Amino acid sequence: MTLASIHLLLTLTALLISKTAGSFAENQPKSLSVKLGNSIQMDINKNSIPPFDELIWTFFSNYSKTIVTYHYETKEIDPDTAYKDRVDFNDQNFSLTLKNMQKNDCGLYGAITIGDRTTHVGEYNVSVVENHGSPTAIFLPWILFPSMLTAMIMI
Ligand SMILES: *[C@@H]1O[C@H](CO)[C@@H](O)[C@H](O)[C@H]1NC(C)=O
Ligand SMILES: *[C@@H]1O[C@H](CO)[C@@H](O)[C@H](O)[C@H]1NC(C)=O
Ligand SMILES: *[C@@H]1O[C@H](CO)[C@@H](O)[C@H](O)[C@H]1NC(C)=O
Repeated sequence: MTLASIHLLLTLTALLISKTAGSFAENQPKSLSVKLGNSIQMDINKNSIPPFDELIWTFFSNYSKTIVTYHYETKEIDPDTAYKDRVDFNDQNFSLTLKNMQKNDCGLYGAITIGDRTTHVGEYNVSVVENHGSPTAIFLPWILFPSMLTAMIMI
């Protein structure tokens, strides 16, 4: 391999890493994986939450999608229509349970509280795995890398 192609390889590698790391790099989300069709539970450390008016669980995919909003004053739990049949929100400890997880449920989830200030109180990186246990996201780099290497060596 020439120096130029090594440099190109490093650049591509850096690009790939920064692309998968997304925009939450400075605040590492907890990783969770769930089997296709199963339920997933995401907790919040209750003691770390400042007083709030509303607590909102959100799915961050191509766009941000509200899953459930909890109003502290009225104790009202307001699930989004897209989730209402498969969401459980616990108003004692604010944990979120999503049932029947599908492939397109992979991604980042987070809870924020809105009050005097807005605080991120929990962040999860969720992957949905097939029953035979191959995570969709994890293997992608290993599929890409060998073919990239081969391409570089051939230059
Ligand atoms: C989420 O998990 C996937 C697979 O484990 C990983 O590739 C990705 O970088 C993670 N994303 C974040 C923002 O941590
Ligand atoms: C995100 O966008 C891609 C491509 O536009 C689409 O295939 C995918 O279904 C979208 N994901 C969600 C969760 O909407
Ligand atoms: C919150 O409550 C639910 C339902 O009782 C329970 O399953 C979960 O483990 C609790 N989470 C924490 C962090 O205590």
